[in-house]
Amino acid sequence: MEKILVFGGTFDPPHKGHRHLLDAALAQEDFDRVFLIPSYIPPHKDHRPALSFEARKAILLDWFGDVPGLEILALEQERSGRSYTVDTVSTLRERYPDSTLYLLMGTDMFLSFETWNRFADLLRDTVLLVGSREPGDRGKLEEQKRRLESSYTCKGIILCSMEPVVCASSALRAAGGGLAGRALEHIGQALDPNRARHTMQVAEYAQRLAPLCGVDPEKAYLAGLLHDCTKCYPISWQISYAEQEHIDLSADDLASPQVLHQLTGAVFARNVLGARDEELLAAICCHTTGKPAMTPLETLLFFADSCEPSRRFPGVEEIRSVGEKDLNRGALLLCDRSIQYLIQKKIHLHPQTVAARNYLLKELEKNG
Ligand SMILES: [Fe+2]
Repeated sequence: MEKILVFGGTFDPPHKGHRHLLDAALAQEDFDRVFLIPSYIPPHKDHRPALSFEARKAILLDWFGDVPGLEILALEQERSGRSYTVDTVSTLRERYPDSTLYLLMGTDMFLSFETWNRFADLLRDTVLLVGSREPGDRGKLEEQKRRLESSYTCKGIILCSMEPVVCASSALRAAGGGLAGRALEHIGQALDPNRARHTMQVAEYAQRLAPLCGVDPEKAYLAGLLHDCTKCYPISWQISYAEQEHIDLSADDLASPQVLHQLTGAVFARNVLGARDEELLAAICCHTTGKPAMTPLETLLFFADSCEPSRRFPGVEEIRSVGEKDLNRGALLLCDRSIQYLIQKKIHLHPQTVAARNYLLKELEKNG
């Protein structure tokens, strides 16, 4: 009999924990098909997700595309209204009458299972597959499993073991809540370890250089934490998110896909992570290309992104040492180097970098 794994969720946005949960399920059982089903309106929330279905699908395909038999289904978008799992399961049941359906969920969902719409039907018709991230949850899960099995007709409840995901860093604990906390949580959940390390380095480096250029160190730190918040998502997501959020992409932006994350990142930082400081958002907007007449914070982030201490490229030490004394001179050298590199590699040169370079050159000449 065909086995189908059903993994529904808001996926707004997807994060490492989702992949971890799916991997635990795949290690537990062999499945013929794996369906990821992003919700339209999650039953426990009263608003639609911040990311469109297409934007969430683009990330899911990028992060989960290697899973054999995987499909991303738009069932709940097509149905619209509140996304009840029981309705989704009944559609799948009609399409695959002879299959066994496995519903994948994490600890919280399982512990609140009796609040789900027509949960008894789900218990009777599907096998629940439950993954726990916290080792201490095992006792609670076993108790809930025993209780459900003794109170209702259950097709099956499987608890799968997972290695705990370490998302929380000491910085996250120190940050507590607020924007820094949300940014750090996003870094832990979405960015790969190298990107996360780079992000932390940019934040700390920008914070250290901030007093030299009259920038508030805390603001510089936050700008660093947020600057690459969408760099982890594929180009297809960048384009679809830009469309959803009405971000105007120029022909030059589209010809330099590696810079799109500066535009989507600023909007994501505001709409999803809750950053409200316009100066900070403006700095994210040009941190890769630079632009003419940058504010001190914009110049600082542009410089720190390329010159943070773990960056290694020919000439970085000289640029770093110049910039640490005079940020604008450092930024000018960085523009020169970046332009030379793009020409040498035959990569599209974004005109904002040329304009930034010409502006800095003129300013520095003016000031001797
Ligand atoms: Fe960066």
